[in-house]
Amino acid sequence: MKKIRAPRNRTTILTDDDREYYSRFLITLEKKAALNEIVGKTINQDIYDVADLLPDKSVDLLIADPPYNMNKAFNGRQFSKKTLDEYEEWLDKWIKALLHILKPTASIYICGDWQSSTAIHRVAQKYFKIRNRITWEREKGRGAKTNWKNCSEDIWFCTMSNDYTFNVDSVKMKRRVIAPYKNDEGEPKDWINTSAGKFRITHPSNLWTDISIPFWSMPENTDHPTQKPEKLIAKLILASSNEGDIVFDPFLGSGTTSVVAKKLNRLYSGVEIDRDYCCLAEKRLAMADEEKNIQGYSGGYFWERNTLSEQIKSNGKKPKKQIGSYQKGQMVNGKLTSFSPYGCSR
Ligand SMILES: C[S@@+](CC[C@H](N)C(=O)[O-])C[C@H]1O[C@@H](n2cnc3c(N)ncnc32)[C@H](O)[C@@H]1O
Repeated sequence: MKKIRAPRNRTTILTDDDREYYSRFLITLEKKAALNEIVGKTINQDIYDVADLLPDKSVDLLIADPPYNMNKAFNGRQFSKKTLDEYEEWLDKWIKALLHILKPTASIYICGDWQSSTAIHRVAQKYFKIRNRITWEREKGRGAKTNWKNCSEDIWFCTMSNDYTFNVDSVKMKRRVIAPYKNDEGEPKDWINTSAGKFRITHPSNLWTDISIPFWSMPENTDHPTQKPEKLIAKLILASSNEGDIVFDPFLGSGTTSVVAKKLNRLYSGVEIDRDYCCLAEKRLAMADEEKNIQGYSGGYFWERNTLSEQIKSNGKKPKKQIGSYQKGQMVNGKLTSFSPYGCSR
C-alpha cells in the first residue's frame, strides 16, 4: 500500500518509473573487475559473492555500515539476531574477504550499536590498527520501560598502517560561545567575535552530539530503515580521504556514502544486495549533481544542531536552495510545490 505523506514531507522516494530508469545504471560483477569498471557505480550484489571480484589495493577509505546484531528487515530481507560469537564470525567473513581491496594507506570505519560493538572490536583488531571509537548520540524513539533508552552508536576507526590520511582542519566544529572569557588584555580567549556572533573553532572529538538522524523534512531522507546522516559520513570522508580518493561502502543501503563522496569530490563505489535501495542510491546520486549542500556543514565547518540562522549570518548568504526530487516537478493542487529547503535540526 502506498504511504500517504504530508505535503511538507521532503522524503526522497522511489516511484515505479524511477525503479525502471535507475536500475539501468546498476552493475553486477561476474569476473574480476578493473578499478575503472566499478568507480562511480552501484554494484547490486551480495558482498559475499562479489568481494573477491573487486580490484586489489584500490580503496583509500572503506566505510562499512553493516546490519547490526538485531532482528531487522531491509525491504523484506530479514537479518536475524545471532549470538555474539556468530555475529563475530559473520563480520570476520566479509572483512577478511575485503582486505585485498585496501591500499596500505587505507582507513576503515565500521559502524555498530552496543550489541554489535564488541564483536566489531574483536574482528577489527585482528586485521587493522584500531585508532579510536567514535560515539554518536543518535536520538530516536521512545524510552524503554525496563532498560535505559538506547541512543548511541559506535563507529570504529581503523587504519591499515601508521601511514594514513587525517585532515583534522577539515572537520573542525564552529560552536557558539556560552562563556566568552577574555584574557588580561581584554581580548577574546580562544574564541572569535564576528558580526554573526561569538564562536569557538574546536577540534573534533570522538563524542558526536551534533548530528540528528535524517527525518521527513530533510531531502536526504529516504524510506531506508537505517539510513546514516550525510553530515556523519561527511566527517569521516573529509577527515580520512582527499579529493580524488576512492571511497568504498560494502553495505551501501540508500547510498549515503556514495552521495557524500560525490558531493565532496571523491570517487566512490558501493555494494548493496537490495535492488530498490540501489535505485534509491542512484536517484540520490543524480540529485547530488544539482545539490552539493550537506546539512550542518557550511563555510568549511561542522555546526551544532539548530544553528541555521548563525550559519546564514556567518557565511553571508543562505546556502543554495535545495529541491528534493520528491518535490521536483510535482504538482499539488495545480501548483508546482516548493518548500523551504532546510529541516529544523540543520
Ligand atoms: C545498515 S544498512 C546501511 C545503510 C546505509 N549506510 C545508508 O545510509 O543508507 C545495511 C545495508 O546492507 C544491506 N545488506 C545486507 N546484507 C548484505 C549483503 N550480504 N551484501 C550486500 N548488502 C547487504 C541491507 O540491504 C542494508 O541496506
